[in-house]
Amino acid sequence: MRIGILTGGGDCPGLNAVIRAVVRAGISEYGDEVVGFRDGWRGVLDGDVVTLDVAATRGLLPRGGTVLGTSRTNPYAVDGGPERILACLDRLGIDALIPVGGEDTLGVANRLAAAGVRCVGVPKTIDNDLDATDYTFGFDTAVGVASEAIDRLHTTGDSHHRALVVEVMGRHAGWIALHAGMSGGATVVLVPERPFDVDAVVKHCQHRFDSGFSPIVVVSEGAVPADGHLTTATGQKDAFGHERLGGIGEALARVIEERTGRESRAVVLGHVQRGGTPTPFDRVLATRFGLAAVRAVHEGASGVMVALRGTDIVQVPLAEAIAQLKLVPLERYAEAEVFFG
Ligand code: F6P
Repeated sequence: MRIGILTGGGDCPGLNAVIRAVVRAGISEYGDEVVGFRDGWRGVLDGDVVTLDVAATRGLLPRGGTVLGTSRTNPYAVDGGPERILACLDRLGIDALIPVGGEDTLGVANRLAAAGVRCVGVPKTIDNDLDATDYTFGFDTAVGVASEAIDRLHTTGDSHHRALVVEVMGRHAGWIALHAGMSGGATVVLVPERPFDVDAVVKHCQHRFDSGFSPIVVVSEGAVPADGHLTTATGQKDAFGHERLGGIGEALARVIEERTGRESRAVVLGHVQRGGTPTPFDRVLATRFGLAAVRAVHEGASGVMVALRGTDIVQVPLAEAIAQLKLVPLERYAEAEVFFG
């Protein structure tokens, strides 16, 4: 078969491990040819491809980012986009596509599968918000980066007797905040799923100061106060209509400083969480997803995504994976709350 692979949406540690697995398994196990489309759906629209052989994948396993490049191009928002994609796949003789991405990239894959393109998706996102899979690769790495940052911030915060507010990514899901905050022993963790009470946050910070230590507040970029104050909307949107988030950390630090009378600073971890080498967990998960995707293509599957269920890799309908975001259940948040203050 001639298989096309692309990586779309925000980059994520482990993307190169998927590319390597698809190429290695496709060529050595099935005698496939594999081509990579550059910059996500943009490359499929423009027919911008690179041939991927085993030599091209040497050294890829530990490398962060994606050697194919990525973009947030939405072909369904481009005039004649879907037709251009069908024509390109036909011209290049592509038998099957393996799109690696989150809800947006896989949403496009789902529509193309309905239009007759053989598509097997691979779930990726540091946000871990894709439904129908227990974990996406990249999440473990992002949590590791954020958790290490929190450890470091504890020592500098305590030395200066100041509060530190750590803003982490995750969009409308609080998984990164929850896991990094729990593993880093945060004073408070704030997630989008549970609008927060500013008074309670200030009280927890004061309690921490009173105990002789400095508070660390971990806030997800999508977290919002229950009373609607502290709006941080930028109004900027991407091609899939997602608003660019950010700024809640700074806004909260100002309030904590005003209300406790203690210096408070915000630290925005931003894209540091997405960069660099994947953890061993993410390398293995990404590799297993890549292997399973090639197998699925050869079994004739389409309109499906490979997914982790427990320790097994299974196939789920793409439609199921993108129907809704996987959010933090309130009972998981309650586990973190036990340690607040
Ligand atoms: O979806 C991954 C993610 O990193 C989100 O956590 C974040 O809101 C967004 O992408 C940032 O995207 P950009 O690369 O456009 O800054």
